[in-house]
Amino acid sequence: MPPASKSETIDDSQLFAHAPRGKGKVVLITGGSSGIGRKAALAFAEHGAKIVIGDLNGQGALAVVAEIENLGGQAVSQRCDVTIWEDQLSLFQLAVKSFGRVDYVIANAGIPDVGAYVPVAGSPTKPNLLTLQVNLVGAIYTARLASYYFERNPSTDKSLILIGSMASLEGFSVTPVYSAAKHGVLGLARSLLPDLSAKGARVVTICPWSVDTPFIKIPGRLLLAGLPFAKTDRVVGAVVFGATDPNPTSNGSVYAIADDQEVFRVDHNELSLYSPITYGILSKRVHSVIRDTYGYYFGLAKDVVCAFLLRK
Ligand SMILES: NC(=O)c1ccc[n+]([C@@H]2O[C@H](COP(=O)([O-])OP(=O)(O)OC[C@H]3O[C@@H](n4cnc5c(N)ncnc54)[C@H](O)[C@@H]3O)[C@@H](O)[C@H]2O)c1
Repeated sequence: MPPASKSETIDDSQLFAHAPRGKGKVVLITGGSSGIGRKAALAFAEHGAKIVIGDLNGQGALAVVAEIENLGGQAVSQRCDVTIWEDQLSLFQLAVKSFGRVDYVIANAGIPDVGAYVPVAGSPTKPNLLTLQVNLVGAIYTARLASYYFERNPSTDKSLILIGSMASLEGFSVTPVYSAAKHGVLGLARSLLPDLSAKGARVVTICPWSVDTPFIKIPGRLLLAGLPFAKTDRVVGAVVFGATDPNPTSNGSVYAIADDQEVFRVDHNELSLYSPITYGILSKRVHSVIRDTYGYYFGLAKDVVCAFLLRK
């Protein structure tokens, strides 16, 4: 296990400081045809990495490959449903066939909560668990394959980046299944740290507050109206920094973008039961973004109205 280091704010100017280490690396990204995944693919390609994209939207993935090739980079893609083990296995096999190995893996594919969890009048209805399948089961498959292929790659510069959310650290009443999935993603990263460290690999979790991508559908936009977003480029910067940071003591970190401010790196030891500090800092940041804008009771009322609108 890496030793403890101090949690810290990472200045925007530092986020791409180690990005040149990505040159020649093979970067596999799930959900890379849109939003954070697409921008991360372009950022790594700009620094000379070879990109492998798997996405449910096969056409969208091909379009990102074309964008990268137009910039003079190398990329391949395949339609991939992350909830299907064989699809992900085939994606990793494509990476090895095309470029010989896998160096950085970004488990990014995700969807918001589908359907409402909070019961409404009438008979009990079974909750829709697709969100859990895509966000958590998909990430578990990606992580298992990353561990397998990292073991077969002698490089000491390998990283698994799991895209969590502020919902990995905080419960959100309108998105309980999504929050459960993203808490699970962080638990997965924390649990894999000893195994991946032993294989010479990093494992870090990126936890953004809401980001302005197609992920945020109309009800979510109503819920978030007036609130600032976390900046997509900063989230992508956290992904690149998390993958390329050569400092072994930052292995296992969480990179939290709790509001529209800079990235806060949380040391893995700060997440232990012994730490009274970190959850407090992040909770304050993420709640002040809501309460400074709305005030507590208006925010609460808005939550209730949105829970009502989102029910199915
Ligand atoms: N946008 C936000 O507010 C926000 C905040 C915190 C965390 N995140 C996380 O960031 C990640 C990326 O989200 P984004 O904002 O870029 O969203 P996005 O909708 O722009 O991109 C998500 C991508 O995942 C793909 N995808 C969905 N289901 C899939 C499946 N079953 N198999 C393969 N690919 C699939 C989509 O086709 C899409 O290309 C997600 O894990 C999301 O939970 C997003």
